Amino acid sequence: MSTVASGVVAGVPHAHGQWSGRLAFILAAAGSAVGLGNIWKFPYITGENGGGAFVLVYLGCIVLIGVPLLMTEVMLGRRSGQSPINTFATLAKREGRSRRWGALGWLHTLAAFLILSFYSVIAGWAVAYVPQAMSGAFAGADAAQVGALFDGLLGAPEQLLVWHTVFMLLTVLVAAGGVRAGLERAVKWLMPALLVLLLVMVAYGFTTGGFGAAAAFLFWPDFSKLSTAGVLTALGHAFFTLSLASATMVAYGSYLPKSVSIPRSALIIALMDTVVALLAGLAIFPIVFANGLEAGAGPGLVFQTLPLAFGQMPLGTLIGTLFFILLVFAAWTSSISLLESTVEWLEEKGFGRKAAAVTGGLAAWTVGLASLLSLNLWAGVHPLGMFETFADKTVFDLLDYVTANLMMPLAGLLTAVFAGWVLSRRVSEAELGAGVGYRLWRFLVRFVAPVGVVLIFVYNLG
Ligand code: PHE
Repeated sequence: MSTVASGVVAGVPHAHGQWSGRLAFILAAAGSAVGLGNIWKFPYITGENGGGAFVLVYLGCIVLIGVPLLMTEVMLGRRSGQSPINTFATLAKREGRSRRWGALGWLHTLAAFLILSFYSVIAGWAVAYVPQAMSGAFAGADAAQVGALFDGLLGAPEQLLVWHTVFMLLTVLVAAGGVRAGLERAVKWLMPALLVLLLVMVAYGFTTGGFGAAAAFLFWPDFSKLSTAGVLTALGHAFFTLSLASATMVAYGSYLPKSVSIPRSALIIALMDTVVALLAGLAIFPIVFANGLEAGAGPGLVFQTLPLAFGQMPLGTLIGTLFFILLVFAAWTSSISLLESTVEWLEEKGFGRKAAAVTGGLAAWTVGLASLLSLNLWAGVHPLGMFETFADKTVFDLLDYVTANLMMPLAGLLTAVFAGWVLSRRVSEAELGAGVGYRLWRFLVRFVAPVGVVLIFVYNLG
């Protein structure tokens, strides 16, 4: 059993603290990676972007860009042993390069902060669905009733406010040190439980008659259905789902003991993350096709499909309740990680851990209100309506788009360039270990990742 080393509060170590070992790190990082991105976002953007071809590009981005970058970020964090904001400045200075690289740490941290603001609102939907499921609200419901339930939630800002607040409080609670070692312990049973429940849902999918159509949709690539914008979305999601380009993995890496192998850990984390996403797709799309629902229904997809299954399957009330509880936990371990870089930075500014967590959480909660309102009262507000790409995007849509499709690819690109071209080979080799794997990593971060991101960007401009 791993215990947390001294200097560690709430499972999230203080600066200078360390994970108790490889397992602790893998659990925390996997807890960060696996979240709403896998179960809420992946299925709905796959539905919106036509299925198989999108999934294939996404998987390609994970393998060629995501995994090497995951190794990179953990390595940079461990090397500096500092907060993400200081990591880039410090390492650049040691190489005798411009301290302006420090701006990259800010970009990372700002992305994390903005994501946290709306992440908490969406996680609030999952919290709201726990009492719904428990009360038997889904029993026997048809697609129209389940849809009405979801629309009712989005249309009620005061309810959303309650759940957004509850979720942010939970996040701050752990970040502030309320639950000692809570993160490690929670993730240890969360992952297996989540996998089992997803497998139950996939098994249910077999009985619906929609499984074949779902598997074909997910795994039979039809490139005529994939737009260049879809390719950018796939790339952005590869960053989002692995918690990359948003300070998180750098921060978690800064607590990693030297003895732990970064490449092996990164492979395990990426594998877990991908398995959960694909299982979520295999759980949701059979229900979509068996009920004649719209695959491109958008952000409400999970909340409008799975309740149908819970309403029809044996023990549906119990399984539905468990499912949404687990979804909340998965989102929770991600939101804690999203808050971590801001907290670390505030601590460096002289805040105590508790004050830093409360301040960071309160700030993200406040910014989150804009996303919350854009689901109802501000639904007609399109701040960048003058640009074609953003014509019908609300505040929430914009934050989602700007973080995942612009800030993360940009931060990811610069991070790859930094590790591949600025950091000396001696340093990366010492961290990652020499060998064929190292040479492959170096090739991917020096050439494949930067060129890939730039090409995808350029095609989207043209
Ligand atoms: N990876 C998380 C998810 O899939 C979200 C996240 C993004 C967490 C960026 C941390 C940093 O839900």
